[in-house]
Amino acid sequence: MATVDLACSVPNNVGLREKPGLRKSLEWFDVEFRKWWFDCGPAGIRDNEIYLRTPVGVDPGGWAQYAFVPLSQYRWGVFQAPAKPGRVALFGAIAGQPVWQTLPQEHRDYIRKLLVTQGDTEPGSVEQSRQLALTAPSLYDLRNLLQFSVEEGRHLWAVVHLLFEHFGADRHEDAQGLLARRSGSVGNPRILDAFNNPLQDWLSYFMWCFLADRDGKYQLLSVSDSAFEPLARSTRFMLYEEAHHMFIGHDGLRRVIQRTIDLMREHETDDVAPHGGINLSTVQRYFNFWAPRIYDLFGSDESVRAADAFCAGIKGRVNESNCDEHVRLEGTVSIERRVPGRSGEFEVVEVPVKDALNGVMRQAYLHEVTQLMSRWNKLLSQAGIGFELRLPSQRFNRRFGAYADQRFSPAGDPVDEAVFEARRGEWLPTGAERAYLRAVQQPVRARGLLAGWLAPPTRGINDMPALDFDYVRF
Ligand SMILES: [Fe+2]
Ligand SMILES: [Fe+2]
Repeated sequence: MATVDLACSVPNNVGLREKPGLRKSLEWFDVEFRKWWFDCGPAGIRDNEIYLRTPVGVDPGGWAQYAFVPLSQYRWGVFQAPAKPGRVALFGAIAGQPVWQTLPQEHRDYIRKLLVTQGDTEPGSVEQSRQLALTAPSLYDLRNLLQFSVEEGRHLWAVVHLLFEHFGADRHEDAQGLLARRSGSVGNPRILDAFNNPLQDWLSYFMWCFLADRDGKYQLLSVSDSAFEPLARSTRFMLYEEAHHMFIGHDGLRRVIQRTIDLMREHETDDVAPHGGINLSTVQRYFNFWAPRIYDLFGSDESVRAADAFCAGIKGRVNESNCDEHVRLEGTVSIERRVPGRSGEFEVVEVPVKDALNGVMRQAYLHEVTQLMSRWNKLLSQAGIGFELRLPSQRFNRRFGAYADQRFSPAGDPVDEAVFEARRGEWLPTGAERAYLRAVQQPVRARGLLAGWLAPPTRGINDMPALDFDYVRF
């Protein structure tokens, strides 16, 4: 196994010293990537020193070091989790046989598409959130956004490395495409729709990290036991970093809700906006807006492609190793299908698990998100507040899949267009709400200070003080 080589032009543990052609291609990518970073990375931050976590190893217990790094000199790199000696394929028709170290020709097209689609989300999320660097509520939060951004950048590096190593280091067009598409562009948008919605306020950013990075975790987990060993090892390393992204979202939302609770009690009102807080009804509408965009990312419940990828041993279920059977998937799962010829009508059908792997993954995801949200609802009920935050129904406001092009309430009841329009402002964020969030989210860039719309973090990064520390030096 190649050791971690931090002195190489591209920090890595994939043996770049012995692979000059591949190293050259990644050096080319470094130049192109930095051009993209300065155009599309966090706005207004260039040479500032940031207190960042950087990989220095690949052992899950001690892979990162914290230090001040001028952002313009940050070194991305290529890291893969350690190989598990003697690993055999876990699932699909090839279960029990040795994993592939090189790409099987028959799966070339599928894996290339998988890599390009996954890779495209990484720069997409940096582009989506770039303007938020101008309005962070504290140095701590700004630092977290920057950490998130450099790590999403490194996820792109991981994908580009796999493309170069396994699809030809002399073929740069996929890498160029990944840097050329733009979140929200009309002519050349990001591949997946969710990544074309700009994050214009920090509430949206926290929701994004809570919901979309968790989808990211599920997507990574589903290939982290892949028979294509380089993909499995790359994604396992990405998962080390992903945990903090989900924390940013989860803890950020907890802090918003906590602050709202405090203001509601202090002023004895549900309407905390006049006091600089964010109303619970606004938080709910933002959930209603963002959750359907993330549901769409899982694809159609029933999918032949997903079944084929499972059978091939490439993409499994989340935590496949916890499942007791990895080949036949004979159990059934219930899903909703449109009734043919009857607009707006659905029937529940039982289908074999292998035919509905996307649905199975989304159900597991929804279960996890619901459980996490129940903790906030507990906070609310402990404070004597009779408000519960809820995920909208899987039917609500979808753009893809069985529920697209039809109208439902957030509870999932069919409604006609007139009802939907009449209640739009009750169900989805209003222009006034969006404007309020932008207005209240003034940047706070002084040590020790925090904006008034969220509670302080309970602890700092790497045991540093939460607020009384220069995480970002201006
Ligand atoms: Fe990522
Ligand atoms: Fe992430």
